[in-house]
Amino acid sequence: MMMLSCVFVTYMGLCLLGVVARDKLNVLYIMADDLRPSLGCYSDPLVKSPNIDQLASKSNVFFNAYAQQALCGPSRTSILTSRRPDTTKLFDNSNFYWRVHSGNYTTLPQYFKSHGYTTMSVGKIFHPGIVSNHSDDYPYSWSVPPYHPPSFHYERRKVCKGRDGKLHENLLCAVNVTEMPLGTLPDIENTEEAIRLLKLMNKSESPFFLAVGFYKPHIPFRIPQEFVKLYPFDKMTLPADPDVPKGLPSVAYNPWTDIREREDVKALNISFPYGPVPKDFQLQIRQYYFSSVSYVDAQVGKLLNALDEHGFAENTIVVFTSDHGWSLGEHGEWAKYSTFDVATRVPLMVYVPGLTSVSQGRGEKTFPYVDVFQEPNNHFISGRVVKSVVELVDLFPTISHLAGLHAPHQCPQPGSHVNLCTEGENRAYTFYRPETYISEERMAFSQCPRPADTPQLNSDQPHFLEVRVLGYSLRCSQYRYTLWVGFQPDRFYANLSDVHAGELYLLDDDPDQDHNLYGLKGYEVPSHSLDKLSGIGAMPQWTDVLRQHITWLHQHRLQRNPAQTF
Ligand SMILES: *[C@@H]1O[C@H](CO)[C@@H](O)[C@H](O)[C@H]1NC(C)=O
Ligand SMILES: *[C@@H]1O[C@H](CO)[C@@H](O)[C@H](O)[C@H]1NC(C)=O
Ligand SMILES: *[C@@H]1O[C@H](CO)[C@@H](O)[C@H](O)[C@H]1NC(C)=O
Ligand SMILES: *[C@@H]1O[C@H](CO)[C@@H](O)[C@H](O)[C@H]1NC(C)=O
Ligand SMILES: *[C@@H]1O[C@H](CO)[C@@H](O)[C@H](O)[C@H]1NC(C)=O
Ligand SMILES: *[C@@H]1O[C@H](CO)[C@@H](O)[C@H](O)[C@H]1NC(C)=O
Repeated sequence: MMMLSCVFVTYMGLCLLGVVARDKLNVLYIMADDLRPSLGCYSDPLVKSPNIDQLASKSNVFFNAYAQQALCGPSRTSILTSRRPDTTKLFDNSNFYWRVHSGNYTTLPQYFKSHGYTTMSVGKIFHPGIVSNHSDDYPYSWSVPPYHPPSFHYERRKVCKGRDGKLHENLLCAVNVTEMPLGTLPDIENTEEAIRLLKLMNKSESPFFLAVGFYKPHIPFRIPQEFVKLYPFDKMTLPADPDVPKGLPSVAYNPWTDIREREDVKALNISFPYGPVPKDFQLQIRQYYFSSVSYVDAQVGKLLNALDEHGFAENTIVVFTSDHGWSLGEHGEWAKYSTFDVATRVPLMVYVPGLTSVSQGRGEKTFPYVDVFQEPNNHFISGRVVKSVVELVDLFPTISHLAGLHAPHQCPQPGSHVNLCTEGENRAYTFYRPETYISEERMAFSQCPRPADTPQLNSDQPHFLEVRVLGYSLRCSQYRYTLWVGFQPDRFYANLSDVHAGELYLLDDDPDQDHNLYGLKGYEVPSHSLDKLSGIGAMPQWTDVLRQHITWLHQHRLQRNPAQTF
């Protein structure tokens, strides 16, 4: 009876608040690195991810979640401060610490810490180095010094056995873990440390916010060799669109320089900037990426199993996401660094006990470990799928609200210096209402810096001072629309009247974004619509400009479904 009434009241959003009043919910915040939604629970036909699928079956699964930039440092800083890269002013991994140069913005873990939570970081949560003051923002964000696995030291060393039997610094790096320096791998160490902390928290009075950042499937694919056996080479296929699209403006293309630096890729003498990568090697990159995903899945499974064992499955919110995606050969690219869906779309699922899933019966586990080698198939159906477009800047207010804290207010304007506010939106309502109630069209915004209009050696990751063109991109259910505009770093000025190139994809016909219609006859955006916009204010916000462009195009050129409005 108790449970029944709880389930009923939950849908009115009350049961959760009741729980919080008695006892705050913990948060387990799990991030993967460079993981696109190549997962069973996102309908990937090949990838074996039974543990993440199991989590998905008890979670709200956001099918259209987008990162604000497809690069680790800018994306992680954006997620954790809930501000867009234009506000943190961080476009690269090496420029500065936001607290000193942009604003003393409160972070998601810092907010929980200020509400009495014990906050802990394991592995890669903040981007390491200068962008988080060489301390992962400790002590502001964390109660204890962040943990870094010692074996990460060997990530870029010659530890991968090549075909010649010698050790190399390779992209493809399936290893015998016992033969590795320290006899382990960074994500295995991360899992062990996170489990150790969970054990300690079992005796703690205060609630916890435990952030666990896995390093994979980021390159190099240094992973336990057994995972590669899950993906026989002869079952591997190329993507549907393995070539650089004909209508793609050259500024939009990024030449994936980081994989070219690895010894095994160097030996292939791939021409710069367009390649291509030899077909067999393309298939191997895909094989190793998928293997890395299954390896991360196993770590997630062990972690969730421990959460359960230590008595936290019924009072802990679990978030699983990634900083951005990765192109696995789509558009002839092998990297992030673009505004395509393959680079900006991420997995995002949130488990809220009692809200997204009802309690297990006595003695039954919520998250039993699933051994992918024993049960490789996806037995799990997705829980509550949310199709509405969401952004990673939404995470901060949404998780705060779900845990029972006040969601930070909307920032008074983009770029605001208020320490605690959000440039995202609180999406907690998606947990209380069936999605059919949500009629409004949502949009996600991402950006991408370039040093020039044509591919250069530094096109993937230009230093901030080298940025000359900025890609501003909008994603909604029907369109992806991108403008590449002139940028002056010394003034931090993006000139929206100085359009170098554009991209327009109609996703109903072209979900993979291969047929650029921007500027073609019938799809022009008349310049008067821009002129009118410059009247918005001295500095029109680019998000508003893109929104108005796509609204104009939708109403005058593209509309198939007149009922749909923006
Ligand atoms: C930034 O804010 C924190 C509290 O959130 C405060 O302790 C710190 O002194 C501030 N730093 C600066 C430079 O204002
Ligand atoms: C960054 O770290 C240094 C060295 O630990 C410290 O002295 C400095 O105060 C930190 N910066 C801020 C803004 O906290
Ligand atoms: C891994 O390496 C250890 C130590 O060299 C060896 O005993 C073991 O047989 C190897 N395992 C595999 C599967 O090759
Ligand atoms: C790459 O170039 C080097 C030096 O020019 C040559 O020795 C090697 O055979 C080439 N490799 C391939 C795969 O073409
Ligand atoms: C701590 O963990 C044990 C099992 O290891 C469990 O029985 C107990 O309920 C947990 N305590 C709390 C306070 O959750
Ligand atoms: C912005 O670009 C337009 C078109 O190239 C140019 O006429 C204008 O002077 C630029 N504005 C600034 C402030 O640089």
